[in-house]
Amino acid sequence: MNYQEAQKVLREHGQEQLLRFYDELGEEEKQSLLEQIAGIDWSLLELLNHQGEEAVRGKLEPLEAVTIADIEKEHAVYEARGLEAIRAGKVGAVLLAGGQGTRLGFDKAKGMFNVGVHKELYIFEQLIRNVQAVVEKAGVTVPFYIMTSDKNHADTVAFFEAHEYFGYPAEDVRFFVQEMAPSVDFNGKLLLEGKAQLSLSPNGNGGWFTSMQRSGVLADAKKRGVEWLNIFAVDNVLQKIADPLFIGAVLEKGFVSGAKVVHKAAPEERVGVLCREDGKPSIVEYYEMTEEMITSRKPDGDLSYAYGVILNYLFRIDELERIAGTKLQTHIAEKKIPYIDAQGNQVKPETPNGYKFETLILDMIHLFDNCLPYEVVREHEFAPIKNRTGVDSLDSARELLTLNGIDY
Ligand code: UTP
Repeated sequence: MNYQEAQKVLREHGQEQLLRFYDELGEEEKQSLLEQIAGIDWSLLELLNHQGEEAVRGKLEPLEAVTIADIEKEHAVYEARGLEAIRAGKVGAVLLAGGQGTRLGFDKAKGMFNVGVHKELYIFEQLIRNVQAVVEKAGVTVPFYIMTSDKNHADTVAFFEAHEYFGYPAEDVRFFVQEMAPSVDFNGKLLLEGKAQLSLSPNGNGGWFTSMQRSGVLADAKKRGVEWLNIFAVDNVLQKIADPLFIGAVLEKGFVSGAKVVHKAAPEERVGVLCREDGKPSIVEYYEMTEEMITSRKPDGDLSYAYGVILNYLFRIDELERIAGTKLQTHIAEKKIPYIDAQGNQVKPETPNGYKFETLILDMIHLFDNCLPYEVVREHEFAPIKNRTGVDSLDSARELLTLNGIDY
């Protein structure tokens, strides 16, 4: 694309501001900016015109979970079955660490955050410890895949190297990089993060599997004989990884996928609820729930829609491959996006100033024929660090680490 072509396409879309600093750029920068403009997916911006329109949902019904009590009864069976799969090398772990964790307000990869008070305890370190617990029990290493983004890849890899992978065998850890998408201000204008650089942000956690395919990391997993992937978020410091009981339950029950869930603390709790939509598993976000769904109760008095997801899933690889071509819905999220203003000054906003475009892993669930909701004890397995203080924060996670006897 040359300058005139770029100008034309930007004019058509009302985005001429991207060429504001063109004359100040060197030849290479000019070329790079034109290439970025040529690569813009205009259909994303089109979505801004439909913002606020509610997604049409099918028929929603509750989906029963395998409860803590059920799991306790089958403890030995599930554990043996899960350990057998792990020992056979059939289970891999996938850490989603491409997000920017803007709510925490930490500039680096979230996993590099030190939650320690009187000693260092990094989020990545705690997650490695959590998987180490299973590795010790099973006597084999679980291949560990880490998704990063262009924003934090180099830092993340260097951090693991500097800490010698926190004792995990380096040959069993592989990194892969997710895709990016442009960001816009609240008026739908594409932002620049440098004079020759469009503001790009990680495009959500929904593309993790295609990124695994594209990067060759999936081929590595399959070569090792991995058949199941346990996917989880970076910020839950208490979560079990490659949990033999969870794996065992999904296998014993013949499901193709499973989701760890917690019982809602209150009907209004802001979690995505795993339910059934048109006969298939589906996750409904808290803001999509009707009043009736929120308050509806079963004959035994418990909430009908009681189980919230905690972003810890188990998926069978052949099923992931089957659904991989299906396009997921793109969500528009309000975020704090650093940019350069019309005068070329760097701005680091304190409050959200624009939108990012993201696809979400939770939308994958509806593509599977079934998904086992597997209940875990909230106090022992759910300590997400989203904010500094308040709900799902560093403070609440520290309290839970203490409760679980973890020194930090
Ligand atoms: P969050 O929903 O917490 O998003 O991600 P975030 O962007 O990191 O954080 P905020 O909203 O800006 O504060 C849930 C999980 O998905 C990963 C995150 O790293 C986290 O483990 N994620 C999110 C990605 O891997 N890529 C993305 O593009 C977004």
